[in-house]
Amino acid sequence: MKIIKVNDKYEGSKKAFKIIEEVHLNGARVFGLATGSSPLELYKELRESSIDFTDSISINLDEYIGLSKDDKQSYWTFMCQQLFSVKSFKKSYIPNGRAKDLAAEAKRYDEIIQQYPIDLQILGIGNNGHIGFNEPKTPFSSTTHIVELTDSTIEANRRFFAEKEAVPTKAISMGIKSIMSAQKILLLAWGKAKAEAIEAMVKGPIVEDMPASILQKHQDVVFILDKAAGSKL
Ligand code: GLP
Repeated sequence: MKIIKVNDKYEGSKKAFKIIEEVHLNGARVFGLATGSSPLELYKELRESSIDFTDSISINLDEYIGLSKDDKQSYWTFMCQQLFSVKSFKKSYIPNGRAKDLAAEAKRYDEIIQQYPIDLQILGIGNNGHIGFNEPKTPFSSTTHIVELTDSTIEANRRFFAEKEAVPTKAISMGIKSIMSAQKILLLAWGKAKAEAIEAMVKGPIVEDMPASILQKHQDVVFILDKAAGSKL
């Protein structure tokens, strides 16, 4: 486990960009992507870079259930706005949150991850330590599955919606086992709201109540933290 402490998200995102540039140069062609505010500056760096992803695959972590692809709050729309509109990939995968048969969709997604093992996975972290949408108590052995979002996650995501009632209460998410199967993991965290989760992730026991704690066992994980997020380490 490698911890890189930076002054702010701008410095941190530049460091994250350098890591992506290097793994891409070394042949990485499957990128696990995340949504949320944590990777926003990193996506800006990528948009402004000359990296060519046209021979790469992207696989996103999760999607809300019930939102159509073109809903302005869907993670598909988020990815188009933040990255895909400027950087096209050979193929980009995001779970279909409107699939009629969600169990079949989860299975299809697992098959995609098996077909394209992830070289580099980008992660944020929820205030309660969730990764992807793997809420506390999700089994470490989980693969893609349907998630009931916790109140704390719904509350945290509310800022993107006009009213709380509009925030979806379910999601489909890559599982913890799938995340752990990535060759390399890069987790970004900014701000003091993340400090406790970061402390538990790095120093706490490895328990399913703190999903991110499993990352202590990953063979190549890099945490890029700003001062506030890393303040309890
Ligand atoms: C959501 C996403 C996660 C993300 C988390 C933190 O729950 N599903 O992938 O890591 O939010 O979001 P933020 O980066 O905005 O703090």
